[in-house]
Amino acid sequence: MTNSNFFRPVALEHASRLVNHGPTVLVTSSDGTRRNVMAAAWSMPVEFTPPRIAIVIDKRTYTRELIAASGAFAICIPGAELVDLTYAVGSASGRDLDKFARYNITATPGPELGMPLLETGCAAWLECRLIPESHTEDAYDTCFGEVVAAAADERVFVKGRWSFTGENTALHTIHHLGGGNFVCASNAIQAHPL
Ligand SMILES: Cc1cc2nc3c(=O)[nH]c(=O)nc-3n(C[C@H](O)[C@H](O)[C@H](O)COP(=O)(O)O)c2cc1C
Repeated sequence: MTNSNFFRPVALEHASRLVNHGPTVLVTSSDGTRRNVMAAAWSMPVEFTPPRIAIVIDKRTYTRELIAASGAFAICIPGAELVDLTYAVGSASGRDLDKFARYNITATPGPELGMPLLETGCAAWLECRLIPESHTEDAYDTCFGEVVAAAADERVFVKGRWSFTGENTALHTIHHLGGGNFVCASNAIQAHPL
C-alpha cells in the first residue's frame, strides 16, 4: 500500500485538473457523528475559480442523507490499488454496514470542513462545501460543490499536473467501464500545435 506522507496541498486554481479526466472517485461524508463512503463515476469540474464541481449522487443513498445534514462532502481519488475497495463501497450502503470498519479504511478529518479524507492508496482529495441547488439535486441527483481544500500525492501529481508513469502505477486513477471493469489512466500524450 502507498502511504500518505507524500500528500501536498494543491492550489485551488489547479483543483479542477484533479477530476478533469473523469476518474471514478470515492465520495466521503459525515454529519459529525456518522460517516460514510461511496463510489461515484459521474463527476466533473464546472468552474475554475472558484473551483466548483458537479457530481451525481442518487437521492436514495446514505451519502445524500449525510451531505444534506452537513452541507459538505469530500472527493477522494483512488489509485489502481484500491479498485476492489472502490467497487465494494459502491456495491453496499452505509445504512446497512459501517464501511470504514468493514473494509478497515483509515480517514483523517479535512482541514476546512472536517470531512473524512482517505490518503492511503489514494492519489488526491478535494474537500467541498455543498452549493445548495434543490432543483438539480431533486430532478437530476446532481450536487454542486465548491472546492475549499485539495491535496495530491506528489509522486503522481507534480507541479499542478498529473504525471502517470511506469513508476507510480499503483496511483494511476481508475475509470469505470461498467460491471466492475475499469481502465487505468496511462499512456499520456501531449498535443502539439498543428
Ligand atoms: C464503479 C461505481 C461507480 C458508481 N458511480 C455512481 C455515481 O456516479 N453516482 C451514484 O449515485 N452512484 C454511483 N454508484 C453507486 C453507489 O456507489 C452505491 O449506490 C452506493 O451503495 C451508495 O452508498 P451509500 O448508500 O452508502 O451512500 C457507483 C457504484 C460503482 C461500483
